[in-house]
Amino acid sequence: MAHTIEIRRATAADAQGIYNIYRYWEEHYVDAEKTKRFFTLKNPYTVAKIERIVAESEAVVAVADGQVVSFYFTNPFFDPGDLAERKAVVERLIANGTLPAGRYATCLLSSTAEPYQGRGLNAKTLHLLREISKAKYDYFAGIMAYHNHNTHASSLKMGWKHYGDVGIGLLAIIATDSANTALHP
Ligand SMILES: CC(C)(COP(=O)(O)OP(=O)(O)OC[C@H]1O[C@@H](n2cnc3c(N)ncnc32)[C@H](O)[C@@H]1OP(=O)(O)O)[C@@H](O)C(=O)NCCC(=O)NCCS
Repeated sequence: MAHTIEIRRATAADAQGIYNIYRYWEEHYVDAEKTKRFFTLKNPYTVAKIERIVAESEAVVAVADGQVVSFYFTNPFFDPGDLAERKAVVERLIANGTLPAGRYATCLLSSTAEPYQGRGLNAKTLHLLREISKAKYDYFAGIMAYHNHNTHASSLKMGWKHYGDVGIGLLAIIATDSANTALHP
């Protein structure tokens, strides 16, 4: 296993590597009864979709020995199946004062290749993604699948605030700027 892992913006050459990790998790969980709705999207990502995200949105990778081993991106282009609901949830919570007004990215995706989990790569890629996204977004809004207990635990440790069950999963929000304290604790 590589000793040094580079965290950087993704390039076009990383799209296939990002896709491979994403596909692994989709296939790994798609038939498991206990993990239904874990990570299965109605409209799956493709290499072509990821290429556009890498080129025109913000995407970060961790690279070990030339291989993508973790990624985090914002997707403003493609509806994974519940984009309208995601946006409506955020708008409703802003309107009732639960969330601060601001520019929200409502569709993100991240994962780490299994052998590289627990080494801080999700945290580090999120850190860089927040840095490079500040000019465009004030907040990231993530939806976690109900049975994705790993993400429930890790997201809290990484600074996401949890806002409970919003009908399509569990809502978590984080500010792109760590100096922004407008989110409720
Ligand atoms: C969730 C996932 C992205 C975490 O990636 P990772 O690279 O292993 O995470 P990190 O090592 O950066 O961990 C970040 C923090 O979460 C904690 N953490 C990670 N996995 C955890 C788990 N299963 N239980 C409790 N805490 C966990 C780490 O200890 C770390 O906290 P610390 O800094 O206080 O030590 C990874 O498990 C994954 O790819 N899962 C499958 C795909 C997926 O669910 N993607 C998210 C869809 S919303």
